[in-house]
Amino acid sequence: MTQAFASRPLAIAPSILASDFSKLGEEVRAVDAAGADWIHLDVMDGHFVPNISYGPDVIKAMRPHTKKIFDAHLMISPCDPYLEAFAKAGCDHITVHAEAGPHLHRSLQAIRALGKKAGVSLNPGTPISALEYVLDLVDLVLVMSVNPGFGGQAFIPSAIDKIRDIRAMTAGRPIDIEVDGGVGPDVAGPLAAAGANAFVAGTSVFRGGTQEAYKNNIAAIRNAALGARGEAI
Ligand code: DX5
Ligand code: ZN
Repeated sequence: MTQAFASRPLAIAPSILASDFSKLGEEVRAVDAAGADWIHLDVMDGHFVPNISYGPDVIKAMRPHTKKIFDAHLMISPCDPYLEAFAKAGCDHITVHAEAGPHLHRSLQAIRALGKKAGVSLNPGTPISALEYVLDLVDLVLVMSVNPGFGGQAFIPSAIDKIRDIRAMTAGRPIDIEVDGGVGPDVAGPLAAAGANAFVAGTSVFRGGTQEAYKNNIAAIRNAALGARGEAI
């Protein structure tokens, strides 16, 4: 089993959505120091999802506070008119939803043309066949384990089988499999065993409100995932 996981490094990606927005720079620095691998940035437009969060200007303001990967999750429709702004704001990964519009292939081409890693996110109700004809353009698949729009929701267990299927579909390709929604140490093991290598966590990372708490929270998720991968803790 260890061999099968060798190629994709584990990444813990705290979701800034669960941080204290009154001190974003400080929160970014705190999760960086606490061991975050990626910083997950949830962009919501009040149209594709029933909530509004923040956009490229806020991301640009966070950018100087860390050198870690900025992992942008765009829950917006349309997305194409805004891709360049997110690239310029300093996002390293730009993930769009397969359900956000009729031109997923074009969106992924555009993200790659901007020199960024291209991700596709699937809502819980979306089949993995949505990925089938775009795989050559995909660097990352983001599997939603809640319906997008809000932090703090309960994990939807069918995400585990879906990740197993995506792992089989993407075998041999350099594609990260990321899971997002209701993720904590309790489900990180089964998710890692199914093939997820990147773990978004909002509530379960920011619980406690201090850098020390973030460090323990991130370590708990990492250790659960590492254990399931058969890697030393
Ligand atoms: C939901 C977002 C998630 C959210 C996760 O639409 O995509 O990234 O912040 O939050 P938790 O970990 O609290 O479920
Ligand atoms: Zn997200």
